[in-house]
Amino acid sequence: NDDPLVIFTPSGRRGRVAPGTTVLQAARKLGVDLDSVCGGRGICSKCQVAPAVGAFPKHGVTTGPEALSEWNKVEARYEEKRGLKPGRRLGCQARILADALIDVPPESQVHKQVVRKDAAQRLIDMDPAVRLYLVEVDEADMHEPRGDLQRLQEALRMAWGVENASMPLPVLTRLQGVLRKGSGQITCLVHQGASGATPSILDIWPGYAEPRLLGLAVDLGSTTIAGHLCDLVTGEVVASAGVMNPQIRFGEDLMSRVSYSMMNETGAAEMTASVRDALEVLAAEIAGEAGAQASEIVETVFVCNPVMHHLLLGIDPVELGQAPFALATSDATHLPAGALVAGLHPQAQAYILPCIAGHVGADAAAVALSEEPGAQERLTLIVDVGTNAEILLGDTSRVLACSSPTGPAFEGAQISSGQRAAPGAIERIRIDPETKEPRFRVIGSEVWSDEPGFSEDAGAITGICGSGIIEAVAEMRMAGIVDSAGLIGSPEQTGTPRCVPEGRTHSYVIHDGRENGGPLISVTQGDIRAIQLAKSALYAGARLLMDEMGVDRVERVVLAGAFGAHISPKHAMVLGMIPDVALNDVTSAGNAAGTGARIALLNKAARRQVEAQVRQITKVETAIEPRFQEHFVAANAMPHAVDPFPLLRA
Ligand code: FES
Repeated sequence: NDDPLVIFTPSGRRGRVAPGTTVLQAARKLGVDLDSVCGGRGICSKCQVAPAVGAFPKHGVTTGPEALSEWNKVEARYEEKRGLKPGRRLGCQARILADALIDVPPESQVHKQVVRKDAAQRLIDMDPAVRLYLVEVDEADMHEPRGDLQRLQEALRMAWGVENASMPLPVLTRLQGVLRKGSGQITCLVHQGASGATPSILDIWPGYAEPRLLGLAVDLGSTTIAGHLCDLVTGEVVASAGVMNPQIRFGEDLMSRVSYSMMNETGAAEMTASVRDALEVLAAEIAGEAGAQASEIVETVFVCNPVMHHLLLGIDPVELGQAPFALATSDATHLPAGALVAGLHPQAQAYILPCIAGHVGADAAAVALSEEPGAQERLTLIVDVGTNAEILLGDTSRVLACSSPTGPAFEGAQISSGQRAAPGAIERIRIDPETKEPRFRVIGSEVWSDEPGFSEDAGAITGICGSGIIEAVAEMRMAGIVDSAGLIGSPEQTGTPRCVPEGRTHSYVIHDGRENGGPLISVTQGDIRAIQLAKSALYAGARLLMDEMGVDRVERVVLAGAFGAHISPKHAMVLGMIPDVALNDVTSAGNAAGTGARIALLNKAARRQVEAQVRQITKVETAIEPRFQEHFVAANAMPHAVDPFPLLRA
């Protein structure tokens, strides 16, 4: 066969094509991912490639400048009007004449990979639900009575293989004007979210258009709502922002919001309206940050716990407050985004991840999508620590999930000197086991309290955040200031004047800034109790899953959530928050639920994947399981009353 050999990088796909075949045609034939919006008309430049010249023994090919045809008029016109980077060619215009080695740069790949922004810098494969297509629609013909929409559908099918695309009425009303203006050429924004669902034409423009396509991934938590705005073509996060969940005024935690809804006839509706208002504000703010308009957001993905899920959809969460904790719907939900958030593109779509069960929501599903417990060779425990902890345990054989009501102590709430993680909060603390003297570091400062340059100005130290209180209690335990039952010793027992009487108990003073007009920061007996309750709930949930799995050890622990990312694994284990495991087998996944939302936003196949994953997850209900109570009581001791923690002791 004398036909030229063409090799594409980075895919490595190769094959012979007839001389004169365009690079785009060759790419299609060989299954190479090369983008095109204009369908080879030399307009969009999405098909740009970089041909290589020289000898490439690794690929077994030598190429010369004659491998591709010279520039034709279309390519020359593009170069003149808009310019091409040096060495680049338009794949739809350049023809293959001799053996060629052709690189497809990332921006010309539809299914490129983007970095997740987590500690491990893992990748997300791009496969967004929306795409632009330029088509040419046949002129109307008196002898052919089909409508303009039907001829557009035919053109989409012929040129792009898009079958049965539907068109919402507000777009249809503009169709004829747009076709006339573009002389039959029209750019369509096509959405294909659900498998089996027909594609929908969300917007149209006359001629070739390159609108900005933005997507919003939302992690809707009980306390904060975090959004990541992504470019749906490049996959990049262009802006991130967070707002407080305004539902806090109806109740701090989920169950108090459910009770608010039970006690007030319009309670659920009020909470729905307040969260939707907050989402509108968030969308406008985050778009503004990226120099865009909220109306450029065409796709949204939401992850949230079951109560937030119901309130977002406008469903009264009352059934979630009592056994059997029935969800109105557990499947993933597709709907027009305008039903949930105002101000977005008028045809924007929304996707809400499926819920696992009445207490284990779409946020846990998002964690499963991000961390893939079912793909782990080693038995992995994933804990997403928040006001409610989502816990997953699994490996390739099985995945189990539960949620556990840890309360807000890990977020610095209900702690005497507690505050949220913000500048001025103590986040790291060490206590000398001999002298019992503490040293600490606050958020926003690199300097430890016993180092030169440490500032004690009023206001420089304001409180102690969640990761700080965990370290404080664990360090107190290791220094013998607190016993395994959680009791703070007297000055005589501990030998330090930092233990001061407070009523019938004692507190340990970390920092007394009162002379300089600052606060007194101490750990009280009440603080220790609050941490014991929270950590026992977390451990008992994990333990329940381990029982169900029939194991008494796990091989890996992944700490997820904004707070999880900041916890010191060693201190968490000293407290007995997490089961005993080698310290280097404890890793942090950052905001795994948010990452899961971003994956589902950028890759529609990942939606099928999480829907399938969720069906495989076995749910364990902590609220009605008597063993949960037993585990909870035994986990009150630090690290534990019965479980041995051999690796920790080593
Ligand atoms: Fe649009 Fe080549 S495919 S310019």
